[in-house]
Amino acid sequence: MAKIGRQKKKQIKVKKEKFIPQSLKGMRDILPEEGKYFDYFLEKLEKLAKIYGFEKIEIPILEEKSLFTRSIGQTTDIVEKEMFSFVDKGGREVALRPEGTAGVVRAYIENGMQNLPQPVKLYYFGPMFRYEKPQAGRERQFHQFGLEVLGAAGPIVDVQLILLCWNFFQEIKLQTELQINCLGCPDCQKEYRRRLLEFFRYKKRLLCPNCRIRLEKSPLRIFDCKEKKCQEISSTAPSIVDCLCEACKNHFIKVLENLDELEIPYNLNSRLVRGLDYYTKTVFEFWPSRIGLSDEEKSRFSLAGGGRYDNLVKILGGPVTPAAGVAFGLERITEEFKNQNLKLPKERRNIVFLAQIGETAKKKALHLFENLVKAKIDIKEALAKDSLKAQLELANKIGAKLVLILGQDEVAHKTIIIKDMRTGIQEVVNVDKIVEEIKKRL
Ligand code: HAM
Repeated sequence: MAKIGRQKKKQIKVKKEKFIPQSLKGMRDILPEEGKYFDYFLEKLEKLAKIYGFEKIEIPILEEKSLFTRSIGQTTDIVEKEMFSFVDKGGREVALRPEGTAGVVRAYIENGMQNLPQPVKLYYFGPMFRYEKPQAGRERQFHQFGLEVLGAAGPIVDVQLILLCWNFFQEIKLQTELQINCLGCPDCQKEYRRRLLEFFRYKKRLLCPNCRIRLEKSPLRIFDCKEKKCQEISSTAPSIVDCLCEACKNHFIKVLENLDELEIPYNLNSRLVRGLDYYTKTVFEFWPSRIGLSDEEKSRFSLAGGGRYDNLVKILGGPVTPAAGVAFGLERITEEFKNQNLKLPKERRNIVFLAQIGETAKKKALHLFENLVKAKIDIKEALAKDSLKAQLELANKIGAKLVLILGQDEVAHKTIIIKDMRTGIQEVVNVDKIVEEIKKRL
């Protein structure tokens, strides 16, 4: 019996594997240090969005898979290879959103926003998911800040979106370069397809199997191919700009004229097709501008991208509604901000730190802290700490201008010590007058 008992114990031991939780590949934590960069960029972006009349929208992270296949396109990398999709308990095929535009358009149609005064201008922020091969600047979960303008056809809308991006990058002092192209309307794309098929007639067999299918189904996607051979061949392909109809050509000219007027430099890039099928007319990207980066690397680290998508609302079952938008990648902007040796601005704050010694003082400090918050003092505490030395060190680290010290004696005499961290001078004041005393010294 004793032998069996020991054997059983052994088995149990073997089963007990040490569980070391780890985040999934390509998905990482945004620690407080990186969060500070996100907060800084988001504050600027949100402020700019509001200046330009955008309102916030929150859309679900999970949507029907067909929403994305219909809008982004069956032959795109995102839909073909990168969707986090699964069947839910109700048997529905669902997917984690790989981008925000499709969800915003769905929300626009579903909530009857076409009946609101047009254009409807919406902005959003949140995580997006793409099952990509994780590498520098390419993650499986990343964060976008996006802007969509629904119900406006004029080139001025495209220009304003670009201008907003330009203003943002100028404000954070990030060196970028604007790449721009025009993909035309379905008619232009039909003509372009014809020219591409002609161009590739004798080269088709040299393309990778994927591109051969792309050529049939959606020739623009050939330009997304990462295969060197396909890139080489497509580099001499005709440019879509030569296939633009009069209306699309005029639209593009107006966009460029406005950019010239605003003195926003741009690079006409006929190979810029973006990785999503819904675009019509203007498309653009902001690439990092840094010595040592090749064009291929710059395009791989694109910081923001967008364009016009005049047919998407209709494709998703809504009325004909011209639209345009852009999305910024927060992780890439953070990375590039650091690569360009830029620093977050130092916060100008009047931090006051409340330190306490002993149990009675701790109790009093708890109340005093609440009162100081109500009096709008930028107050910080470390009530969980007992040592005065540790509290003063922390006060120093966070840049407190004043430290309030409450000990047994002070509690007994209804006083408190104010230490000015800039001069080192300490004074004892009446605790009931503390708010006035603080304001006098800040
Ligand atoms: P997108 O170019 O696919 O456009 O993504 C926008 C930005 O998200 C990129 O410029 C990049 O900064 C960031 N990004 C994309 N994929 C990753 C990744 N795997 N890891 C890290 N960052 C990434 C769109 O998503 C469109 N919805 C933009 C748009 C809005 N067009 C019209 N309205």
